[in-house]
Amino acid sequence: MIPSQPLVMKYSNKTADSGYTTRKRLSLDPRWLFHLGDVSMPEIKDHYASYMNAKAGTAWGAAAPDFDDGEWRKLDLPHDWVVEGPFLEEENLSQGYRPRGVAWYRRKFLLEEDDQGKHLELQFDGIATHATVWVNGLLVHRSFCGYTPFQIDLTPIATYGDQPNTIAIRVDADAMEGWWYEGGGIYRHTWLVKRSPVHIQTDGVYAVPVRSPEGAWSVPVEVTLGNITSKETPVEITAELLDPEGNLIVSERSTAIVPVLESAVTKITLPVPGAPLLWSVDTPVLHTVRVSVRREGELLDEAGVACGFRTIRFDADKGFFLNDEPLTLQGTCNHQDHAGVGVAVPDALWDFRIRRLKEMGCNAYRSAHNQPAPELLDACDRLGMLVMDENRNFNHTTEYLGQLRTMVRRDRNHPSVFLWSVFNEEPMQGTPQGREMVRRMVSEVRLLDPTRPVTAAMNGGMNNAEGVFEAVDVMGFNYCDHAYDSFHAKHPHLPVFSSEDTSAFMTRGEYANDPERNVVSSYDSEFASWGHSHRKAWQLIAERPFLAGGFVWTGFDYRGEPQRLAWPSISSVFGIMDTCGFAKTAFHIHQAEWIKDRPVLAIAPHWNWAGREGETISVLAMTNAEEVALFLNGEPLGRKPKPPFDFIEWAVPYAPGRLEAVAYNQGNKVARTQVETTGAPAALRLEPDRDWLNGDGWDAMPVTVSVVDAMGRTVPYADNSVTFTVDGPAENIGHGNGDHNCHDPEKGPMRRVFHGLAQLIVRSKAAAGQATIRAEAEGLAHAELPLTVRHAEIPPFVAPEESRYQIATWVFSPPKSDRPDPMVEISEADVNTWMSVTPGTLQEMPPGQWAVYRARFRPWNSIASRGGEIVFSTLHGRAEIWLNGIKITEKSDPSPAPLSIPLPPYGAGSSSDRVLTLLVRPEADGRVGMAREVSIVSNP
Ligand code: GAL
Repeated sequence: MIPSQPLVMKYSNKTADSGYTTRKRLSLDPRWLFHLGDVSMPEIKDHYASYMNAKAGTAWGAAAPDFDDGEWRKLDLPHDWVVEGPFLEEENLSQGYRPRGVAWYRRKFLLEEDDQGKHLELQFDGIATHATVWVNGLLVHRSFCGYTPFQIDLTPIATYGDQPNTIAIRVDADAMEGWWYEGGGIYRHTWLVKRSPVHIQTDGVYAVPVRSPEGAWSVPVEVTLGNITSKETPVEITAELLDPEGNLIVSERSTAIVPVLESAVTKITLPVPGAPLLWSVDTPVLHTVRVSVRREGELLDEAGVACGFRTIRFDADKGFFLNDEPLTLQGTCNHQDHAGVGVAVPDALWDFRIRRLKEMGCNAYRSAHNQPAPELLDACDRLGMLVMDENRNFNHTTEYLGQLRTMVRRDRNHPSVFLWSVFNEEPMQGTPQGREMVRRMVSEVRLLDPTRPVTAAMNGGMNNAEGVFEAVDVMGFNYCDHAYDSFHAKHPHLPVFSSEDTSAFMTRGEYANDPERNVVSSYDSEFASWGHSHRKAWQLIAERPFLAGGFVWTGFDYRGEPQRLAWPSISSVFGIMDTCGFAKTAFHIHQAEWIKDRPVLAIAPHWNWAGREGETISVLAMTNAEEVALFLNGEPLGRKPKPPFDFIEWAVPYAPGRLEAVAYNQGNKVARTQVETTGAPAALRLEPDRDWLNGDGWDAMPVTVSVVDAMGRTVPYADNSVTFTVDGPAENIGHGNGDHNCHDPEKGPMRRVFHGLAQLIVRSKAAAGQATIRAEAEGLAHAELPLTVRHAEIPPFVAPEESRYQIATWVFSPPKSDRPDPMVEISEADVNTWMSVTPGTLQEMPPGQWAVYRARFRPWNSIASRGGEIVFSTLHGRAEIWLNGIKITEKSDPSPAPLSIPLPPYGAGSSSDRVLTLLVRPEADGRVGMAREVSIVSNP
């Protein structure tokens, strides 16, 4: 079990804007409609279709607001559909042998009438892989990077009151950006942000504390403001620095004039008195910078960002310094998927993963090879983990520079971020072309954030005459350790670190290679030809003071790239931990080298070797102590010194019982540990990461599932199938066991344990109460875990609006003095005589004249088969209503009123359109038409 820490379960994404009355950041995550597979667009052949296809707001097919999505699956975001799929040998090995494909998401929502005039923005934190987004039938965005967030200005196209807004998203996960598992779908959060028309823009507060050469601290604050009104607006801006308890330290003001539909940037410097508490990996102290904007004293907008006081410095001879103290980077590279959930990682799991890495003595995280989830950076800020923040696409042209800029603007306040990385292993790295591209990218980064160095992770070309090393601040070595010294000698002024190393293989719980079973030994003997054992890779770094440290490939196993292995292995075995975060031997090897402030002692392997009595088993002690003594069933097996950068090893003839290790420093006992031969599997055990969840529908945690013997010891060979039931205000959202050869579905009630362990991920529902997790397996005593789901504030969200069929597209004839023929034909080529109109706007015409409204529609299957009612929410003026050439009713009272007309059933799947015609005549006010929506309500 992972010791639960006094965690402050605060997710800044949810809280950053809460408490501020002037803006609302509402989650859009609940209740989307999902369709796996593409939905083909109607063919465009005739003139009218071609003409309308080229117009704003006239999207067709599943992109259109009135598309029939009644049969689509309902789900909440974040969502990764790929993790729900099967494992298939014919699929891409790099992506974890799973079908990817195309899918659609749709969601409707209402805006309040008094939202009119506000600045409204939709925010998408990440969609894998490519996405096309329509809002209210208008194509609003194409996203070409699954790791880059994007925002859409909803304001001009929003509809209010009972007129729903529709978001439709086509996601193309056949597009791939990596050679690892990338998942598919809207796998990060989505938001609707409502702000004042004069407001602080998204990522519009930049506040990184700086220290002067004389040692005085200040926080230069840069605020970017927007204005959607039609008047330039003078504003006063206040920036405040708050201490970790929220007390004001210093506050300054400035003024600005925000031009119409442009942004204004204001700079305010906050002088910081005295010596603020510093942020470090051991004491991650966070301050807040709060910015407010006022017009003549009236508060318009407020925003807060977390920041940390720390200095970072790379020295070409001495490595890295945090707050002027040398700090060797004890880093790991990591992808972003976790057992059971794929890339749709609940926020709280980022905390769990970062805590696991910290337990190992890791102090730096490389977000390989892409921009991370914002909640990961929040966790690193809070828990004290440095981050090498990496861009996905190496390219200096417009679209890609945009991705880079978005990353820097989004992430530049995080004290954890200490290094920007513009690429990983690019074929152009050792060429002048590569250098020129990097120069341009570095210059973009500098414009937005001059406070951090820029690097690139090179795996070749470092000894060339020209290359990327000429354009970066810090040189990242991926492998290529043969060139550490020669590069340093040739470039003595360029700081160097290992951006990637090791690439060693281990299957958790296995202690011999077995090609038949696709498993790899955990004795740290196996590694890629370009890598080293965990011990050797670290030694090569640690012995070179000029190297700032390194990043092991990888902290956690990840799906895809099962290198050395292939099918049926579906995930990598590079991890120091498996996909659940269960420790392999490598975990203790790193603890022994990286942890200095407390004794570390662990032994491997397990001690269940029935049938191998008398055979020699190699026993490892991983320690940071000077010496370790080993005992088998009380018999001493020798006391040995720890070799530098290595574990201690004994060859022990196997006999069942207790293997015990005792560690000594200067002759004093500092730690002891043991492994015992267990009995047969007898029972299940459930151990939560914490004994509570917040009942907000967001909080989640891993629960360790173990198969134990009668004495409660985990049985290292157990592989029982376990069935889970979760009752009360929590739910099972997935599970794993770290076995890279296991093809059990990651969702649903069943999971096998692997070497005695599995992991269940539970998420709270939006309710408080007592949840119960039950685990059952044939022949074993079951386990039951009561879990308190605490009352918690539910993050505000936008309620989903049920779909209803709307007749939204109409044409309107020129007015005539004679009564027109309601059957009048409209030529397909004539787009100029008749005018396109939408309900919600009345037409003005001379009183007493006549005009025709015409709509062609094909209602949803449910309506076609059951029939329904055509509902005009408000119809102005007199009208005759004709359906398919037959007059069905008449509105003789000209005053505005609702009108419902029965629509008889005519067979689902009918491909014929219905034609609705309104013959209208205004009264003295000269106004006619549909003041509000026209919809069709299906009969039950
Ligand atoms: C590196 C690469 C990583 C991963 C690793 C496996 O070359 O940067 O993404 O593929 O090799 O050893």
